[in-house]
Amino acid sequence: MDINGKTRTCGLIGHPVEHTLSPVIHNTLAGLTGHDMVYVPFDVEPGGLQDAVRGAYALQILGLNVTVPYKSEVIGCLQEIDMLAKKIGAVNTLVRTAGGYKGYNTDMEGLYRAMISEGVRIAGEQIILLGAGGAARAVAHLCALKGAGKIYLLNRTLDRAGQVAEEVNRAAGREVVRPLRLTEYHEIPAGRYLAIQGTSVGLAPHDDEVILSDKAFYEKIHTGFDLIYNPWETGFMRLVKSCGGRAYNGLKMLLYQGIIAYELWNDISVPEETAQIVYRKLMAHFERS
Ligand code: ATR
Repeated sequence: MDINGKTRTCGLIGHPVEHTLSPVIHNTLAGLTGHDMVYVPFDVEPGGLQDAVRGAYALQILGLNVTVPYKSEVIGCLQEIDMLAKKIGAVNTLVRTAGGYKGYNTDMEGLYRAMISEGVRIAGEQIILLGAGGAARAVAHLCALKGAGKIYLLNRTLDRAGQVAEEVNRAAGREVVRPLRLTEYHEIPAGRYLAIQGTSVGLAPHDDEVILSDKAFYEKIHTGFDLIYNPWETGFMRLVKSCGGRAYNGLKMLLYQGIIAYELWNDISVPEETAQIVYRKLMAHFERS
């Protein structure tokens, strides 16, 4: 990497940020696409978000990714917000515009591209969605938007599932989401489902925890997507596979949300072969750590 007087800076703001894989994605992309750009993580202490965004703008920073815990709070620091990001109430990418940053959410489109690259479709599918937090809520909007048949939204706290269902059904203009308490999973009608695991259960170092353990539940699942990528294979994925389904982790979602951010910052379209090179680099990084 040759840093010079014209090198543009992009970065990540969040707290904490030290375990992020985003620098691997963006610095590899910069090398492959020939952009004079560098990507660095910035740890923003609680209470410092407004100053951080204002300072980034003053420093001519081209774009930023935003991670936990600032994805909602950052909306108050924007000049403009993309329609989709506004709908789901979370922003993970800031793009420099005249007068301030415009906020986008590339997580959702990232998951969609990850699914396409694995040959998994949403349109017309019966879906089980686990969780009703920030991530699962975005997935519920994505599935409704892309024409899912029915979405059974399972969550430990029924109230939260109900809120997400109401919001997504209103936005979609149809009764597409049915909220259920986690323990009511047996109420899901017999059939074959695409299941998306959007809770934090099973995230390292709690590799052995699993959101549900009843095999009868997993027998309904033809494809399982876990948004978690650390560990590489979660308990949820193992159970899906042991009941004959296909299972994927969240690393491709991470890859594509980064690629979409990179495309927005540099106004280009990243070819699929380049995406695959970055993916291999991410996997190699995993094997080393
Ligand atoms: P994120 O923004 O990453 O989605 P979040 O908003 O904190 O994180 O949401 C975490 C999700 O994991 C929620 O759906 C949460 O269920 P509740 O709404 O009932 O809190 C779910 N979750 C976390 N720990 C859980 C556990 N031990 N058992 C079941 N669900 C759990």
